[in-house]
Amino acid sequence: MPDNGVILDNHLEEHHDHETIYFPSGFLWGASTSAYQVEGNNTNADWWYWEQTHQPPEKWSGQACDQYNRYEQDFDLAKQLGHNAHRLSIEWSRIEPKEGEFNQAEIDHYKKVLKSLKDRELTVMLTLWHFTLPKWVADKGGWESGQTPQFFERFVKRIVPEIGVFVDFWITLNEPGVYIYETYIERAWPHSKKSWIGQAKTFLNLTSAHKKAYKYLHSVYPVGKPVGIANNILSFESYHKHSVTEQVAVSLNDLFANHLFYFFTHGTHDFLGINYYFHVRFRSGSFIAERRDMMQTHDISDMGWEVYPEGIYQVLTDLADDIPIYITECGIASTNDDRRNRFLISYLQEVARAIKGGVNVRGFFYWSLLDNFEWHLGFEPRFGLVEVDYEVLAKEQELRKSTTSPYKTQSRKIRPSALVYKDIIQNNGIPHSLLRFIGHTVRAEEVLEKRSKETEKEMIQPEVLGKGQKEIPEETEKTA
Ligand code: NOJ
Repeated sequence: MPDNGVILDNHLEEHHDHETIYFPSGFLWGASTSAYQVEGNNTNADWWYWEQTHQPPEKWSGQACDQYNRYEQDFDLAKQLGHNAHRLSIEWSRIEPKEGEFNQAEIDHYKKVLKSLKDRELTVMLTLWHFTLPKWVADKGGWESGQTPQFFERFVKRIVPEIGVFVDFWITLNEPGVYIYETYIERAWPHSKKSWIGQAKTFLNLTSAHKKAYKYLHSVYPVGKPVGIANNILSFESYHKHSVTEQVAVSLNDLFANHLFYFFTHGTHDFLGINYYFHVRFRSGSFIAERRDMMQTHDISDMGWEVYPEGIYQVLTDLADDIPIYITECGIASTNDDRRNRFLISYLQEVARAIKGGVNVRGFFYWSLLDNFEWHLGFEPRFGLVEVDYEVLAKEQELRKSTTSPYKTQSRKIRPSALVYKDIIQNNGIPHSLLRFIGHTVRAEEVLEKRSKETEKEMIQPEVLGKGQKEIPEETEKTA
């Protein structure tokens, strides 16, 4: 302390330290994808048939991002962007296209995919079921049928010994609650119908499938390869503090959406995998007014989803347990990348706050590595750290038919937010100067340039960009 008697200076220093907010050592940093959303041409899946009968052609998954063929380049990007982990899924309908018939060529393909992640020294988190079913399973009743957990178990027992060596974390199921919601309540997904019984059966069969897979995985790997699910967790709030109706709505929704699956599968989770996207405020009798107020006062994504960083803090502190937590998905659909920067920094700040408060969070996977097929909404929502230019992709595919030259990657373009994320990863923390992003209309180039001077190294170098790219995109839209 300077011996000049000016306490105020010291006081200011204490409260204005420009320190980096650090994450625990060994923290996993990465991005998530799922097979059907990025691979392309999953012609044996139930979704493939459903799209063609229920969706306009522009919303068919088609070649998606063609990652089936371009996985090496995409994993190069993840590596170049500093990620130390990656979450992805395998497509059951490729591996078992007909009942009981397993396709060895596809199994070998996935071995190559997973090995190429390992070759890049990425920790692998693998999802065994991410929303799609082989068509033959769907024809036999899908998750409503009591046979499906057994089919799933057979699939798991066949594939795990082949690929297990490359996997560090297993996710048995992705978002069982969302699957049920989209199928039976929103009725926007395959096999949609109104059926409370069907819904209950599906729920129970999903819990049974998870338990079977958990038991089997633990019999093969008693330790060292943790097993869990990726669960969509929402933050709920009441608008009026003293409204009993609203409080009841909060409690019931929290119970059903956030806790029920864990309740039915107690003791079969080595970690909690949390996908966080939604904040819901209950306001008695006034859903429309609430939505209008929210849209006027909050940042929203291109899908109309509220940006609510405190929500991730709330769900983390609420679920904190004696097992580790991984944020298996969190991201924003936006063509405005400045908005993604703001999203990333403000959400990660809240994650850091939860960790500081004692919550055992050990990793963060941004959704998604690249723009991809957003289910019934097609390709419009843009979640990627890496932009996919689908028109260029289509041209590349055309070219590909007439030449044997390697796949071109011009269809991928790194967004500035990917470099902001990289900066965080390299620091294993949020350097103070990145907090500027929380302000509105802060442009990435400006901050990144300043950061690169601060760290006395070039943050934006050609070699951090994907092959075929020379510079980061100049234009990011201004914040609305
Ligand atoms: C969670 C799902 O797992 C994923 O498939 C989806 O694309 C994202 N949410 C964004 O909606």
